[in-house]
Parts: sequence; C-alpha cells; structure tokens
Amino acid sequence: EILDVYAREILDSRGNPTVEVEVLTEDGTVGRASVPSGASTGQYEAVELRDGGERYGGKGVQNAVEHVNTILADCIIGENIYQQAEIDRKLIRADGSENKSRLGANAILGVSMAVAHAAAKSLEIPLFRYLGGSQALRLPVPMFNVINGGCHTRSALDFQEFMLMPVQAESFSEGLRMAVEIYHQLRKLLDEAGLSVAVGDEGGFAPDLSGAEEAFDYLNRAVKAAGYVPGEEIRFAMDAAASELWDETRGAYYFPGESRMKGKEILRDTEEMIRYYQTLSEGFALWSIEDGLDENDWEGWGHLSAALGKNLQLVGDDLFVTNAKRLKKGIRLGAANAVLVKVNQIGTLTEAFETMELAGKNGYRFVVSHRSGETEDTTIADIAVASGAGQIKTGAPCRGERTAKYNRLLRIEDFLGGMAKYGVDNLSFLC
Ligand code: PGA
Ligand code: ZN
Repeated sequence: EILDVYAREILDSRGNPTVEVEVLTEDGTVGRASVPSGASTGQYEAVELRDGGERYGGKGVQNAVEHVNTILADCIIGENIYQQAEIDRKLIRADGSENKSRLGANAILGVSMAVAHAAAKSLEIPLFRYLGGSQALRLPVPMFNVINGGCHTRSALDFQEFMLMPVQAESFSEGLRMAVEIYHQLRKLLDEAGLSVAVGDEGGFAPDLSGAEEAFDYLNRAVKAAGYVPGEEIRFAMDAAASELWDETRGAYYFPGESRMKGKEILRDTEEMIRYYQTLSEGFALWSIEDGLDENDWEGWGHLSAALGKNLQLVGDDLFVTNAKRLKKGIRLGAANAVLVKVNQIGTLTEAFETMELAGKNGYRFVVSHRSGETEDTTIADIAVASGAGQIKTGAPCRGERTAKYNRLLRIEDFLGGMAKYGVDNLSFLC
C-alpha cells in the first residue's frame, strides 16, 4: 500500500529544474525517480508543465511539484503499489486532458516511475525484472551519439546526432568498450585537425563540420583507427531531427549551418531529403535514420519508407511521440519501421509499454531513449532490458547523466551473468 507521495524540484543536466518524486510504501520502502526534458521536442508530445515568470528563467516546476504533492498524492495514497496499470490510469484520469497539460506530464511521469521503483524495491528485485519478468534477459545495443549537432550544440552541423552501434559485439560490455575506444580515437582525430572537442548536450563532440558526409567520414576514420571495420562490427545511425529543419514558409528543409559554411542558402525538399539519405546510406555503413522527415509529413514518410525501408531502420521520434494512436496511424500508412520510446513524451510507464507492445506486434522495432536534458535517474536502462527492445539511445560515453545509464546496464549484465543476451535479433529489414 502507498503511504505517501512527495515531490521536489531538482536540476537536470542542462541546469534546468525538473521534478523528482518519492513514493513511500507501508513496509517503509522509498522509490525515487526523476524526469528528463527534451530540447528538440515534438509538437504532439505530452506537455511538460513550466511555471513561467522570472524564477529560473520561467523554467521552474513548482506547479508540477505542487500537483504531485496534492492532487496526485491524494489520488494514489492507499493504492496497492503493485497495481502499476491501475495507478497509471488513475493518474491519467486525475489530469483529464488529452495531453496531460493540466497537471503536467512531468508531474505524472515522476509519480508513475517512482511507484515502479518502490514496488520493485519492496519485492527486493531489480526494476528490469519487476517490469519485464524472468524472460527479460536481452541487453540493448547502444546507439552512442558521438557527434552532436542541431539544437544540442552551437556548431554548424544541422543534423542532430551521429551515432555508433556496436552491433556485432559478444556482449553489452564488449560493445561498450568498442564504442568507447572509437570515441577516444574520434577525439584525437578532431583534435589533430584543429577542430573543437568540446561536447554537446548528449556528450558527443560538437565540431564545426561542413555536413553529414564529413561527420560520417570522421566516424569511418575513428572506427578504423580503433581497429574495427565500419559495416561489420560497427554500424552508424543518425537522428536528422528534421522537424527542427522544416521551414513552413519556405516549404522546404532549411540547413542553417551548411548555409553558413557554404555562404549560400541550402534548402532541400522532401524528395531531395530522401535522395540525400539514399546517397549517405550508399556511401557509409548507415543502418538507422531517425526523424528523417518532418513530424507532420505522413505522405513524405510513406515515400521515405518505400524508398529506403527495406535496407534501413527508419525511426519515428517526433512523428510518433511514443503515442500508440500516432503509431497506429503510422503502421496503417506504412510510414516507418521503428519507433523511438521516450517515457516523458507520453507520461506514464503503462502507456510507454503499450506503445512498445503495439510496435512489437506489428513488426516495428523500438528504441528506448533518453532526452537531451537528463538526470542521474537510470530507469530507461531497466526499461530497455524489461521490454527486450534490443536498442537503447542514451548519448555518448561521456557526461555523468549519460554514463549513469550505461553503468546501470553494465550492472544488469553482471547480475544476469551467463543468462544475459545481447543485440538486435535480426539485422536485416526484409520483413
Ligand atoms: P531531445 O533530443 O531530447 O532534445 O528531444 C533527442 C532526440 O531528438 O532524439
Ligand atoms: Zn530524435
């Protein structure tokens, strides 16, 4: 039984306030969780409640905290801690809005995750096992975001993320080691070229490169310098975050960094974007593209999938916002073949798991993901193992809030010992 629920304001990795929640059970267990926050947020995400005004530049979360400590606490005190789905339904009902804008998705998610932590702790089992049962044995392939661009940096790179995926390692820890070795080689190469090795919001380097080709070129060289083969042990992934580039008035994607580097305006329409991805996938060991097109361009996504979906993982992030309704529409339209899962886009654990189940049943892959603003909370590492996602995106092997997740996965792998599995089950897309 839940005895008490308490929230406070803490800081995230960008120095902005966020919500932390503690749930106390009758056996004296305390479950704690804190909520992440995006920068390139999708238009259709559940709403993160911010106070506005002067305090913390308007980014305070005192109202969300207050909602936890009053309305949401009243609504779940006395409930059975093990009834996650029922508790999440009560939280959703208490808010009553379509997008959790009344009480705030940040308030609701904090409670939802803290309840799960308290339940697992009171049973004295790890969270991944509580959420996933005894069959939860698969450690995910990490998508290491080693070059950051877009709105996570001030660099000239317009695409947001360039990632390494150690798809053929024997284990998670081996995959992690390979990616870390490459990360250090990349640092050396950038440094030797006189480029910046300062890091972006997700711990990847943020050099002023001329575009995606140059970024992948550096990844190729770093992989080789570390003694691996691009396209074999290591594949590449990218997040274009194209909703950020879409310019409604011009009716095209605008590349501000590339325009600045080239001294002329660079615009690409939908078909040019698709051809661009085609060229990149032919030139490099690219295996996964996230948000290749704008969140409202369902028709364009259909073209993208028809053109590239047989050979590439096409992940909807802003497109689906972890929302089962939007994912259903995407499945019906053949818009993509994978979905990014960010718990704070939807606001409860139960809904996030429903989206993953829907994806799995329809042959869509799913990738559990952090946000660019994170805390030391490691819930997503456990969710990735619990759901058997096979892939996790949680930044570079750098910055404490990113390594916290990788370190949690190392502990889980250690805990599972010989039972642990690793990897994406099938690397091809001919489904
Ligand atoms: P965000 O970025 O957390 O700033 O939205 C991550 C992503 O786009 O995948
Ligand atoms: Zn994204």
